[in-house]
Amino acid sequence: MPNIAVMPGDGIGQEVIPSALRILKAALGADAARWHFEALPHGADHTLKTGQTITASEMQSLRSFDAIVVGALGDPRIPDNRHAKDILLGMRMQLDLYCNFRPSFALSDALVPLKNKGARDVRFTVFRENTEGLYTGIGGNFKMGTADEVAVEQEMNTRKGVERIIREAFAYAVRTGKRRLVMADKANAMTHGHGLWRRVFAEVCKEHQAIEAKALYVDNLVFQLVRDPSQFEVIVTNNLFGDIVTDLAAALQGGLGLAASANYHPGGPQMFEPVHGSAPDIAGKGLANPMGAVLSLSLMLERLGDPTRAAALEAAVKRTIEAGITTKDLGGTATTKEVEEAIARNVF
Ligand SMILES: NC(=O)c1ccc[n+]([C@@H]2O[C@H](COP(=O)([O-])OP(=O)(O)OC[C@H]3O[C@@H](n4cnc5c(N)ncnc54)[C@H](O)[C@@H]3O)[C@@H](O)[C@H]2O)c1
Repeated sequence: MPNIAVMPGDGIGQEVIPSALRILKAALGADAARWHFEALPHGADHTLKTGQTITASEMQSLRSFDAIVVGALGDPRIPDNRHAKDILLGMRMQLDLYCNFRPSFALSDALVPLKNKGARDVRFTVFRENTEGLYTGIGGNFKMGTADEVAVEQEMNTRKGVERIIREAFAYAVRTGKRRLVMADKANAMTHGHGLWRRVFAEVCKEHQAIEAKALYVDNLVFQLVRDPSQFEVIVTNNLFGDIVTDLAAALQGGLGLAASANYHPGGPQMFEPVHGSAPDIAGKGLANPMGAVLSLSLMLERLGDPTRAAALEAAVKRTIEAGITTKDLGGTATTKEVEEAIARNVF
């Protein structure tokens, strides 16, 4: 019996996650009765009410679930976004979800924003290192608030951290029959940390002679991605570059409302979330696109060992786009509920 923790969080997370779960239940049919969904209250309301973001024991209890589903975290009432940092970065670091898996698969020619390119040109997956790099918070400020202020943000790269994400990207390429893999770095300017990435990459490449693998500077990667995304099948990169490259990847597939992600530790805890944030500008208005959340649940089904239903959810989203039933972000006029109902009807 799959045991799933559900944390809709803030803003449109409260709309897209319930929608996506109703669609999942439609896809599960009679099997839905065997699934257990545990609602978790964490988010801005909970923090404002209790003064707590997430406790250490609540964080550790997340390990007991087969999967964690998160909506989005971020609320203007908590300007420093402390709760989002504690919960999201907390999960990544404390549950060691070192692998951030973000596929960019365009589902319709009409949604690809590049001239003379279509859905067949956008089919690649980014592996973003999720626990190191520039996002560890190592650093500090000196003479803060003065004209002489110094701010230091240190990038941390460990041999173990670099090697395991590169290996995971290669393992995925082998498992799914991909032939091309690119590592993106900035080893020309950041010789220490990214020199480590280059050395480890060269070592792992030697074990995978059948895969055409190369290292690119990240500036060249983003240039090439816009020029011709069909060159890429698998991309592996560090935390900061992955954060940026995956937003570009979301734009190439049609927008933030469609982008899905998995954050996981192979063989350990796994968390699934749409890439978008809490979108306070449209929250509560029925305008949010639930497709990124639905595609995140498709990734969850895949990783829980049900590729058939995972594919059914993706196909249902594709049919709904083809039928022109989309929210405003994709050029349509449908509400979140109307898109939900259309996707649920299209699951078979
Ligand atoms: N993983 C996360 O939880 C996450 C990710 C990014 C941002 N955030 C947080 O979300 C808050 C808002 O951040 P932001 O505005 O930079 O990013 P955002 O993704 O929330 O919104 C960016 C723009 O895209 C639109 N948009 C996003 N998702 C959409 C959807 N599903 N359907 C239709 N339109 C959609 C929004 O209306 C907005 O105009 C901030 O507090 C930020 O820190 C959280």
